Amino acid sequence: MATLCGIGVGPGDPELITLKGWRRLQQARVIAFPAGRQGRRGIAEEIISPYKDPQPIYLPLEFPYVLEEEVLKRAWHKAAEQVYAYLAQGMDVVFVCEGDVSFYSTFSYLAAAVRALDPHMAIEVIPGVCSPLAAAASLGVPLTVGSDRLAILPAMYHVDELAQVWVWAEVVVLMKVRSVYGQVWQWLKEHHLLAQAAVVSWATTPQQQIYTPLTNYPELTLPYFSLLIVWKRRLRFNPV
Ligand SMILES: C[S@@+](CC[C@H](N)C(=O)[O-])C[C@H]1O[C@@H](n2cnc3c(N)ncnc32)[C@H](O)[C@@H]1O
Repeated sequence: MATLCGIGVGPGDPELITLKGWRRLQQARVIAFPAGRQGRRGIAEEIISPYKDPQPIYLPLEFPYVLEEEVLKRAWHKAAEQVYAYLAQGMDVVFVCEGDVSFYSTFSYLAAAVRALDPHMAIEVIPGVCSPLAAAASLGVPLTVGSDRLAILPAMYHVDELAQVWVWAEVVVLMKVRSVYGQVWQWLKEHHLLAQAAVVSWATTPQQQIYTPLTNYPELTLPYFSLLIVWKRRLRFNPV
């Protein structure tokens, strides 16, 4: 029986692929991944490129960057049909995704859409290093210690959401911070937190950028692959 296997290939540095993920990639006959934009490779495809072998079939899948539920559902269904065409022939398919496959990943929707086509389809998940952990490592700071409560906001539409979690969390990670950075910077300033906050873009890749303390960065034009971390108290290993 064929298996759909989601592999988290880590935040960018190809050496952060797990041994298990790497082994499965080497055995794979069909490797699917989110298609890139404007003729460029997507990040997961880029991460596995040092290991690309001519043998497997490479299957780029289109996932539009939109919020409309109906458009997304159609894209997941179409991608599931493309993947299922191989699975139905008994061929395993691996789907590679940046970071971890269970952490805000397209794989979750793809797997659900494949299960909708075939409720008995075997699905396996190989975890990967997710971006907040990679960013903390790049900063040389533990993400959490002791009894720290960690809040992760996947996308923020208003700074009030940060204020609400800051009441109870010792550490807050803001994913997809690019579009709200200006508002967040202002809020951090008002709460005297700029010195305890950091932004990491393209963590672990050659384009990695670190901005900390944020006091000096009221305005930043950030890439999509950026996140912000703010700590109530910050421990440092390295003088970043
Ligand atoms: C849809 S989520 C995907 C998360 C991913 N599955 C993971 O495990 O980290 C995309 C967001 O993750 C964050 N992100 C992912 N990779 C990153 C990296 N290498 N450096 C900084 N932020 C990253 C950014 O906030 C980006 O907007």
